[in-house]
Amino acid sequence: GKPLKVALLGCGVVGSQVIRLMREQSADLAARIGAPLELAGVAVRRLGRARDIDVDPALLTTDAEALVTRDDVDIVVEVIGGIEPARSLLLAAMNSGKSIVSANKALLAEDGATIHAAARENAVDLYFEAAVAGAIPLIRPLRESLAGDHVHRVLGIVNGTTNYILDKMDSSGASFSDALEEAQALGYAEADPTADVEGFDAAAKAAILAGIAFHSRVTAADVHREGITEITAADVASAKAMGYVIKLLAICARAEDGRSFGVRVHPAMIPRTHPLAGVREAYNAVFVEAGSAGQLMFYGAGAGGAPTASAVLGDIVAVGRNRLAGTRGPEESTYADLTVHPMGET
Ligand code: HSE
Repeated sequence: GKPLKVALLGCGVVGSQVIRLMREQSADLAARIGAPLELAGVAVRRLGRARDIDVDPALLTTDAEALVTRDDVDIVVEVIGGIEPARSLLLAAMNSGKSIVSANKALLAEDGATIHAAARENAVDLYFEAAVAGAIPLIRPLRESLAGDHVHRVLGIVNGTTNYILDKMDSSGASFSDALEEAQALGYAEADPTADVEGFDAAAKAAILAGIAFHSRVTAADVHREGITEITAADVASAKAMGYVIKLLAICARAEDGRSFGVRVHPAMIPRTHPLAGVREAYNAVFVEAGSAGQLMFYGAGAGGAPTASAVLGDIVAVGRNRLAGTRGPEESTYADLTVHPMGET
């Protein structure tokens, strides 16, 4: 069939891997979607800069606004992160009828209402599997596979950088700053690692997961948050001596009454025999507890270019198929009148 044209916003750690996978797997992707994918353009901040991948200079542009509204573009893939200009660009794209694939947890957690409303009003797809826990399927399982169940709790490790830091401190006695530098060099950390170590990244992901799991609107501001910057090598060592490991946990839990819930992110002492204690390096792990399904565990690479690009590609295939079929994926469902506790407690 006629190619589906993809506009890519951002060409960093994740964006460059998206381009690589689109190239290397182009025949498979075309077969799975039913039409080939074609890169229509790549919006970057600066043109001259060294990149992880060679891109035809003719495809590079600093005019993202023009790219996302171009008539021939079908799918806009946003991997720039942050609130602006990402929000304006996604709104312009949706208003022009484009399908959206976004990895932007900060935006979805802070102003998901605006983004979801635009998807609904324009009747376009909005997929964001890559926004939470990299390669690990969580958004689709919660939105689709578990749509017939009643989720009580979503709990786990959703930030690779802090898990990497805490794991290095635990296993080799590394200092906080050395471990952070390693995590940055491996491409796990956010552009500003404060988002990781202060728990903002995990809080954004927790807000997104809680919103889907509890069919409610949850923002980052609803999440009680504490990061790992106060944790010392001595804390880690004494936890270890007592048979515990310190992990940064995200917890979204319904209260006993079933009508309210809390969302929180904080360091916690985990017994070394607990499955979460075995989550090493930048891996993530999330437990979902649902009424009929019982306890489910999702585990895998939660950060890094290729794993996150895997989730982006999966979304591109899904929206590509939907576009060809003239259909759409699920919309945000916020029917429940659940209240969120301000301090995150349940
Ligand atoms: N900085 C994030 C992390 C990247 O370390 O988990 C994935 O969202």
